[in-house]
Amino acid sequence: MRAVSLLLVLSSFAEAVSVGQRRKVVQSCNVHRDKSSDTTPLQVGNGNFAFGADVTGLQTFKPYAIMSTWGWHNFSLPTTPGQTSVDDFTGVQLWTHGRLVTYEIPNPAQNDISNWLRENPHRLNLARVGFDFGCDNVTEDQLQHRFQELDIWTGKLSSYFAYNGHPVRVETWADPDSDTVAVSINSNLLRKGLGLFFDFPYPDNEKFNAPFVGHFNLTSRHSTVLERLSRRSARIRHTLQNTTYYTHVSWSGHGTVTGPAEGSHRYLFTSPQTNIQLTITFAPSATNPHPTSYRRVTSASRSWCGTFWTTGAFIDLTSVRDDPRARALQQRIFLSQYLTAVNSASAYPPQESGLVNNGWYGKFHLEMTLWHALPFARWNRFPLLWRSIPDTYTRLLPSVRARARMQGYAGARWGKMMAPLSAAPGGPSAPGDINALLIWQQPHPLYFAETEWRAFPNRTTLERWDEVITATADFMASYAWWNATTGVYDLGPPMYPVSENTDANGTRNPTFELAYWRFGLDVAARWKERQGKPAPREWVRVRDGLAPLPMVDGTYAVYEGIEGMWTSNATTNDHPAMAGIYGLLPPPASGEPLDMDALKKTAGKIKELWALDYSYGWDFSMLAMNSLRLGDPDQAVEYLLHPIFQFDDAGYPVGGSRVPTPYFPNSASLLIATAMMAGGWDGSEGITGHWPKSWENHVRVEGFTPAL
Ligand SMILES: *[C@@H]1O[C@H](CO)[C@@H](O)[C@H](O)[C@H]1NC(C)=O
Ligand SMILES: *[C@@H]1O[C@H](CO)[C@@H](O)[C@H](O)[C@H]1NC(C)=O
Ligand SMILES: *[C@@H]1O[C@H](CO)[C@@H](O)[C@H](O)[C@H]1NC(C)=O
Ligand SMILES: *[C@@H]1O[C@H](CO)[C@@H](O)[C@H](O)[C@H]1NC(C)=O
Ligand SMILES: *[C@@H]1O[C@H](CO)[C@@H](O)[C@H](O)[C@H]1NC(C)=O
Ligand SMILES: *[C@@H]1O[C@H](CO)[C@@H](O)[C@H](O)[C@H]1NC(C)=O
Ligand SMILES: *[C@@H]1O[C@H](CO)[C@@H](O)[C@H](O)[C@H]1NC(C)=O
Ligand SMILES: *[C@@H]1O[C@H](CO)[C@@H](O)[C@H](O)[C@H]1NC(C)=O
Repeated sequence: MRAVSLLLVLSSFAEAVSVGQRRKVVQSCNVHRDKSSDTTPLQVGNGNFAFGADVTGLQTFKPYAIMSTWGWHNFSLPTTPGQTSVDDFTGVQLWTHGRLVTYEIPNPAQNDISNWLRENPHRLNLARVGFDFGCDNVTEDQLQHRFQELDIWTGKLSSYFAYNGHPVRVETWADPDSDTVAVSINSNLLRKGLGLFFDFPYPDNEKFNAPFVGHFNLTSRHSTVLERLSRRSARIRHTLQNTTYYTHVSWSGHGTVTGPAEGSHRYLFTSPQTNIQLTITFAPSATNPHPTSYRRVTSASRSWCGTFWTTGAFIDLTSVRDDPRARALQQRIFLSQYLTAVNSASAYPPQESGLVNNGWYGKFHLEMTLWHALPFARWNRFPLLWRSIPDTYTRLLPSVRARARMQGYAGARWGKMMAPLSAAPGGPSAPGDINALLIWQQPHPLYFAETEWRAFPNRTTLERWDEVITATADFMASYAWWNATTGVYDLGPPMYPVSENTDANGTRNPTFELAYWRFGLDVAARWKERQGKPAPREWVRVRDGLAPLPMVDGTYAVYEGIEGMWTSNATTNDHPAMAGIYGLLPPPASGEPLDMDALKKTAGKIKELWALDYSYGWDFSMLAMNSLRLGDPDQAVEYLLHPIFQFDDAGYPVGGSRVPTPYFPNSASLLIATAMMAGGWDGSEGITGHWPKSWENHVRVEGFTPAL
């Protein structure tokens, strides 16, 4: 039995998927639309820059965003006495194991500066570019024969429509190497008054800006200036308080930019030709940092996308013919790969909504970083991982060390919600109750490092991560608190576990965090041993003395002493993180082994009692991974296709009742779970197949390594 299943696994690994077959599979997931969506654009982009288009290939009817990793803005600081500078923020002190510790929680006496710090800086929507139909007030319904294809194999968005019987053909591309969108327009309407407009919004201070970002009617709060540079180029300077950036426009042949129209920041490009090609580059500098041409952008995009799809891991489910779930999963897998490359492969961790719109002011969350970035490693696309990891951690070290020091701990305490250092140098993480008391982001660097080590077990890897690992583990060891009564190390209180819905003052020893602390300290100790150094005694002592994983009625509980586990609906909602100890995390390398019966019983109770209709994000992928390790791939597929775990026609992860759309941790987690199905995990050889039984002989995969 064992030999047979091994052979099956080996044969599916051995057969290479040809470039032609890869192309066929990828393009079978291309997106087609004949009208604009009310909630999501079609995007071209490169991870650090993206352009969201409506059905016209531009932003004619729907002002979807153009966003970047560098475009940020601050509103003016408050003028309230005593709250006029970020240094005035004091935070709040909470009793923590017999001493007062300062947390970055808003002090009720300092609402103005606390709110300012949460809302600033916020990410900018750089502009809107759309068709101008001259004096006609045209609506989308008046366009005929609308048709659009996003070719994810090349990064080309082709759009077609007709107006008054005249066809208009548009191609939209993004440059992989700069913040440039390249557009080609072919239509004799260009000679009859069809033009392109450029408009510039002003941000608002809402936590969520979805589906659209910014306002186009607050024109007096910001300014724009047009400069015509040559017969074929112009630039528009946009100034919003301390933020200034430039839109560099170049075109082929004849054309001219005029404006702004009275009382607006709207400029118009017109051309007497029937065929025009433009490049539009956004940059913080007045000199275009990357002058390029339409032709160069198209060939760079083909080449970047081509490399993306022909290297890295691959899953081909097209031969699974008797189960429609395979087709649905295939579509999700490929569109998720495209969308995470466009939105999440950035120079620092992406926000939950990527470059589509703003969630949490455009800031990122360090506890979500593992989901966002791990797929690039698991799908063997390390260069995309390395854009942000480990640099994000290395660069933040001074400020997170300072936080730990201020709180009386050793090492570095990773924060939660923040803007990149380039937009808020040295700034604290956004103030908040949950932000300050969440801890499961802490071991993430250790997960990344261990994953990277498997692919690159060399000295460079060891050295690159060593400082971050040491500071991370030092904090973990000093944060755990020796409880003399029980004779174990406790985590919390006060703290929030993964499910942010508990009483922070009463939350002690959550299951997932305990398991993750052990995992992290194990990795950290091994890291030292690999360098021929002893693991610090403190790490080992804390690891070996951690409180046991709390149990209720033979199941793993959310946290120790939780009341009403499985009998109250207050405890069976939000993230079922207990499933993560045998889903996201491998079984422990030290201490007591996991109780397999308890794991199975916990998974069963979650399926039966959890408020899955209110679950969101990566819950379903984590439950799927738990099902995989428990030997139930059918249940894993059920979770990955759960009706609440939705993706729209273009592959965007639907936010659902809790968060706006898109919510990219869903896409990323789906890729992590499917990488596990395809590549297995340590010790998984003994389990027969990681796919539903009827798929096994038809699935083709390559390029995966086993998960931790
Ligand atoms: C804008 O810049 C000035 C001068 O550098 C600085 O004093 C001020 O704090 C900045 N304002 C904001 C809101 O960033
Ligand atoms: C254009 O048409 C839309 C939709 O019919 C309408 O709401 C809008 O007021 C019109 N604008 C002008 C300037 O006529
Ligand atoms: C300005 O635009 C926003 C949408 O961005 C709209 O909600 C608001 O009503 C507009 N305000 C005015 C005064 O037109
Ligand atoms: C926003 O304000 C913070 C704090 O004053 C400052 O460090 C940062 O550079 C500002 N960012 C922008 C984009 O103006
Ligand atoms: C060592 O690992 C790094 C990644 O940490 C990788 O870039 C490099 O190519 C590896 N070197 C060798 C000699 O394998
Ligand atoms: C020690 O642990 C027990 C059991 O979790 C808990 O009830 C008690 O409050 C802890 N002691 C202190 C001083 O926190
Ligand atoms: C925890 O208790 C402190 C008082 O010690 C209180 O100020 C704080 O609001 C409580 N926090 C939560 C989340 O209940
Ligand atoms: C729990 O059940 C009560 C009573 O049925 C209901 O009012 C409440 O909304 C439920 N809470 C959750 C979180 O589902």
